[in-house]
Amino acid sequence: MAETSFDLIVIGGGPGGYVAAIRAAQLGMSVACIESRGALGGTCLNVGCIPSKALLQSTEFYNHTLNHSKEHGIVVGKLDFDLAQMMSRKESIVKGLTGGIAGLFKKNNLTYVEGFASFVDQHTVEVKSKAKASAKQTLTAKNFIIATGSEPIELKIAPFDGENIVSSTEALSFTEVPKHLIVIGGGVIGLEMGSVWARLGAKVTVIEAQDRILATMDHDISKEMTKILEKQGFEIRANTKLKGSKVLKNKVKLTCEVDGKDIEIEGDKVLVAVGRRAFIDGLNVDKAGVKARQNGKVETNGHLQTNVEHIYAIGDVIDGPMLAHKAEDEGVAVAEIIAGQAGHVNYEAIPGVVYTWPEVAAVGKTEQECKDSGIEYKIGKFPFMANGRARCLGDTSGFVKIIADAKTDRLLGVHMVGPNVSELVAEVAVAFEFSASAEDLARSVHAHPTLAETIKEAAMAVEKRQIHM
Ligand code: NAI
Repeated sequence: MAETSFDLIVIGGGPGGYVAAIRAAQLGMSVACIESRGALGGTCLNVGCIPSKALLQSTEFYNHTLNHSKEHGIVVGKLDFDLAQMMSRKESIVKGLTGGIAGLFKKNNLTYVEGFASFVDQHTVEVKSKAKASAKQTLTAKNFIIATGSEPIELKIAPFDGENIVSSTEALSFTEVPKHLIVIGGGVIGLEMGSVWARLGAKVTVIEAQDRILATMDHDISKEMTKILEKQGFEIRANTKLKGSKVLKNKVKLTCEVDGKDIEIEGDKVLVAVGRRAFIDGLNVDKAGVKARQNGKVETNGHLQTNVEHIYAIGDVIDGPMLAHKAEDEGVAVAEIIAGQAGHVNYEAIPGVVYTWPEVAAVGKTEQECKDSGIEYKIGKFPFMANGRARCLGDTSGFVKIIADAKTDRLLGVHMVGPNVSELVAEVAVAFEFSASAEDLARSVHAHPTLAETIKEAAMAVEKRQIHM
């Protein structure tokens, strides 16, 4: 007879949930992780971070070969792509990684329960199998972690139909390159998925209600990325508000408002990427007495604990950036807290990355946030154009911008656009973790020639002592 009572039940097998489950098992707890999707890894591994990065890699490889071979003295014949192969490569990467988590579960002696969980009371959940409609089981635990994630926000004026008006999930699996893809929302998903299809030849129009794309990031990043993406062929329409949509035969007609006037835009596919909402539908948190807000967000205290002492929540379902790595770190922290240790997440040092090409990465406050909070700051900026390695790569767009406290020199924010900045940002996150100053970065030896020298030079530029500009 399978076990039905545990030290900990984790609801949701995404990056938050599965990591929490593994860490808790390492700490000696008996753990069950309930997941309804039929595979572990959540949105990130199944229909988010991983498949999108697989497609971004394939399409960038194609794009680079197409546009940059000549300057490297490489002669290629007629270049083409095979979309079905790109998709099957993506799917096998996803399968390998989700299967890998199932393997880790076995190794850590974790119980993986396939099904949809709903609270019955503060210590009990009922799990209905999605695979076998009649299968139902009741499980109990001393502690719970709610890690049920989020789902794409649907607009009433442009509802998903899975065909012409779609979410990121369907945009990861188009069987043909759209002629004209209209993206609603100039955020992370819009620009990443827009990049995939633009590189394969789609005309991509981004409709953004605010006055700039990547509106939560530093203004200089938005400005630079607008310039770069427009050069790549994107049509970016900021200050443009969607008012309505009409699906015609294999076409969608959108009505948008610009400067008080209505305009019409027509495309064959519309990707709605206007954010995600916390997902607790059907979880019956009220039966456990857990407080959730109208928008589905579960309220937690500084220890990731809900108003019910033994029920915790992590990841997209609580406040903070909806990022896999934030959820993972919360997962580790909460497992340690339950085990009586001092689990902690430093929310000041969470990197944000946009996997366009060039990439975007940032940690800490934007310049506007510094201004708004009345902090006196100084800025150092250094372009990749003046970096030897970037010149050798043939990828010289972008810059590193460092904001440091004017009095203490402590790092406040680092914002980058450029080649491989998704990897360079790790150095910055560590610097934030150690409360480093700009001078600490400036005086650390960076290998030459590397892209990371741009960070060192930007840090030196804070005191106007950069060498190579
Ligand atoms: P987002 O919040 O990044 O961007 C949505 C954009 O849509 C905003 O700029 C907003 O002003 C705009 N918008 C909202 N309503 C609109 C309307 N009616 N008309 C025109 N524009 C409108 O949301 P996104 O891109 O959907 O991503 C969802 C979440 O997933 C984010 O929290 C993001 O951080 C996360 N994510 C992270 C990735 C990464 O770390 N690389 C990749 C993909 C998603």
